[in-house]
Amino acid sequence: MHLLAIPLTMFALALPHRIAAQDDHPWIAPTATDVRSPCPGLNTLANHGYLPRTGMNITISQILGAALQGFNVDADAIIQAAKFGLLSGNAPETMNLDALSLHNLIEHDASLSRNDFALGDNLHFNETVFSTLANSNPGVDFYNTTSAGLVQHARLTDSVARNPNVTNTLKEHLLRSRESSLYLSIMGDPLTGVAPKQFVQIFFREERLPIAEGWTRPTTLIDSTTLAPLESIIRPVSMWVASQACEDLVIGPGLTI
Ligand code: HEM
Ligand SMILES: *[C@@H]1O[C@H](CO)[C@@H](O)[C@H](O)[C@H]1NC(C)=O
Ligand SMILES: *[C@@H]1O[C@H](CO)[C@@H](O)[C@H](O)[C@H]1NC(C)=O
Ligand SMILES: *[C@@H]1O[C@H](CO)[C@@H](O)[C@H](O)[C@H]1NC(C)=O
Ligand SMILES: *[C@@H]1O[C@H](CO)[C@@H](O)[C@H](O)[C@H]1NC(C)=O
Repeated sequence: MHLLAIPLTMFALALPHRIAAQDDHPWIAPTATDVRSPCPGLNTLANHGYLPRTGMNITISQILGAALQGFNVDADAIIQAAKFGLLSGNAPETMNLDALSLHNLIEHDASLSRNDFALGDNLHFNETVFSTLANSNPGVDFYNTTSAGLVQHARLTDSVARNPNVTNTLKEHLLRSRESSLYLSIMGDPLTGVAPKQFVQIFFREERLPIAEGWTRPTTLIDSTTLAPLESIIRPVSMWVASQACEDLVIGPGLTI
């Protein structure tokens, strides 16, 4: 599939886990009947076959396994989102990726690459929306926690200005900050939050792991202890101000936000 295939296969004896994450899972574009989500992470995992390529009838266990295998993202970073995902449909134990566009379940306004629900298509990638992130951190070839916070600020400012229906509570702010820390971590260094622009852009635009361009699966396990320090920079830089209050959100035992 790509030129790196032969040398990577030789490395497979020494690094079986990493190579399995790359060679055994080619990127294949979704077919007309496959479904995808507003999440570039889940879509990338499906496009590489870590999740069922159909995008349908997906279990929480499949999501947790795929995130670990594909991105080295630990369950603790995404399990709440995965559990919320079941509420997007009526099946007791599975979800379909397209149903995750259900507005205000996980899907929210002021996204990095999708329109607000009230403004248009909240499911598919939109280059105009994405241009704010794409053009951020000018003069260097990487994104970082500062640029991610500034992008969140710009995207929310645009939504507040153009969307009279904007939903912008603490819940959305926390989801958006988690998503920013995730793209920096999976496409860059999870400990510094520095990610090559080229890798991040391929992830969003093509929902593809940029293996041919030199990306490798992070060797650091990405979990809430690595994401929290990145979010602690992103959040103040984003200068977030709520548009509405939300009730206390209970997300687990001892976890109220
Ligand atoms: C596997 C690790 C994951 C990564 C790397 C990841 C990454 C991201 C990123 C970067 C975004 C922001 C997209 C944007 O603003 O345009 C996003 C959005 C989203 N993610 Fe994920 N995600 C992951 C896991 C999950 C899980 C487990 C769920 C739930 C089943 C989920 C559901 C969503 C949804 C519904 C959105 C849309 C939010 C919106 O922008 O309106 N994600 N994700
Ligand atoms: C998903 O589950 C439904 C309901 O059981 C079934 O009709 C459908 O064929 C399944 N689709 C796939 C792609 O597994
Ligand atoms: C926007 O909000 C108005 C007033 O609450 C409501 O009537 C309308 O259905 C909403 N539109 C969308 C697309 O959410
Ligand atoms: C992409 O987003 C822009 C800005 O909201 C919008 O004007 C445009 O119609 C969208 N394009 C598509 C194909 O939805
Ligand atoms: C992010 O990169 C910009 C541009 O080089 C730099 O000014 C800023 O200090 C960096 N942020 C962090 C947290 O290192």
